[in-house]
Amino acid sequence: MTLPVVPLGDFDLSDVAFWTAPRDYRDGAFKTMRDTPGLPFFEEALIEDSPFPRGPGYYALSRHEDIWHVSRNAQLFCSSKGSNIGDLPQEMNEFFGSMINMDDPKHFRLRSIVSKGFTPKEVGRVEDNVRVKAAEIVDRLLEQFPDKQCDFVEHVAAALPLEIICDMMGIPSEDYAKVFKWTNTILGVGDPEFGGTLEDLMSHALEMFMYAQALGEDRRANPRDDITSVMMAADLDGDQLTPQEFGSFFILLVVAGNETTRNAVSHGMKALTEFPEQRDILYGDFAGNSKTAMEEIVRWATPVIHFRRTATEDTTLAGQELKAGDKVVMFYNSGNRDERVFEDPFTFDVRRTPQPAQIGFGAGGPHFCLGANLARREMTVMFDEIRRRLPSMRITGDPDFLQSAFINGIKRMPCAWD
Ligand code: HEM
Repeated sequence: MTLPVVPLGDFDLSDVAFWTAPRDYRDGAFKTMRDTPGLPFFEEALIEDSPFPRGPGYYALSRHEDIWHVSRNAQLFCSSKGSNIGDLPQEMNEFFGSMINMDDPKHFRLRSIVSKGFTPKEVGRVEDNVRVKAAEIVDRLLEQFPDKQCDFVEHVAAALPLEIICDMMGIPSEDYAKVFKWTNTILGVGDPEFGGTLEDLMSHALEMFMYAQALGEDRRANPRDDITSVMMAADLDGDQLTPQEFGSFFILLVVAGNETTRNAVSHGMKALTEFPEQRDILYGDFAGNSKTAMEEIVRWATPVIHFRRTATEDTTLAGQELKAGDKVVMFYNSGNRDERVFEDPFTFDVRRTPQPAQIGFGAGGPHFCLGANLARREMTVMFDEIRRRLPSMRITGDPDFLQSAFINGIKRMPCAWD
């Protein structure tokens, strides 16, 4: 595939217009960055009416190798200054981001406690539930859409992760829609359709936080068969999660668990439609190919576009001298198209086995996605259900993309089956 040549200086990663430009233009820009020695620097976006000052700018990491290095050297590149590009006061970082915005030992403590909800045993317990929910989604499609077409995002991709994470946490089904609205506003902050303002974000996050605190307190007093109870009961040398910590973790978990997997499934269906020979390979031997196919879908989709780290001391990266306090932003989308690691990176290949691996769940290190195994299970089961019961399902129109530099989201996308 030939990409357009997009010279450095012609584009600005902080300009929202860049993220709505055609895909191949953006891919061309990232290729230029990968091929240019050193690290390009960008000013931060000026956010109108923001109560916070504009930050000092950031270096963009586009090569797989550099992202790998930064992710795995958490002492040199920390998370506690924030994992999104803009700066927030420290308390707000932890309020919104929970452990994704912490360093060890704080991060280690929290991750050790909440990991109890994500052991293979706990994820195994939801396995049957994932199957049941995926089957119900297809049942509903067959019942509700006799003309055999619907919106793929709303009726297929969004439903599974939302219902699974809510169920795991012990959220009753009548509250699913509320949770869905909260997560949409939080991650859709740049997109006018979801409210889009900082104020909306704050008020939804606060509502969600209060809801979670109450849930946590309830499960500590009256444990049930859900991971909220497991987490609230978890004891680390006499140390337990406070309801506030649980509240913030809940925001992270529900947002991270919903908005990512749904986009992976949507981009996956789109790719299987665009490359029918790959769909035939996957559907032809699902047991044999699903493992590599799900990794390839996550690589192809890269649902989370970037996370940031901050240098804790002066250092050098890719020949670029960095000072303590400099921000580096890891563009996973670009690392996942790095031709130094992936042969024909712009080819969708469900049997691909790259070494080192794709970095859609992060590039290793202490913050590697806590829900990666759950996400892989959900995706596998959903595509298996589609393959078995609706093998002709395909995308039939243009996707409506989320306007965001952070989440590679699809808001709507028509699909049909025979
Ligand atoms: C395809 C789906 C998903 C993708 C692409 C994804 C991607 C990511 C990425 C890129 C990170 C940051 C890694 C780093 O900084 O090194 C992350 C962290 C995280 N993810 Fe996921 N994620 C997905 C699904 C999930 C699910 C289903 C859950 C939970 C139910 C989840 C929970 C988390 C949590 C809690 C963290 C923070 C971990 C920490 O800071 O220690 N994710 N994810």
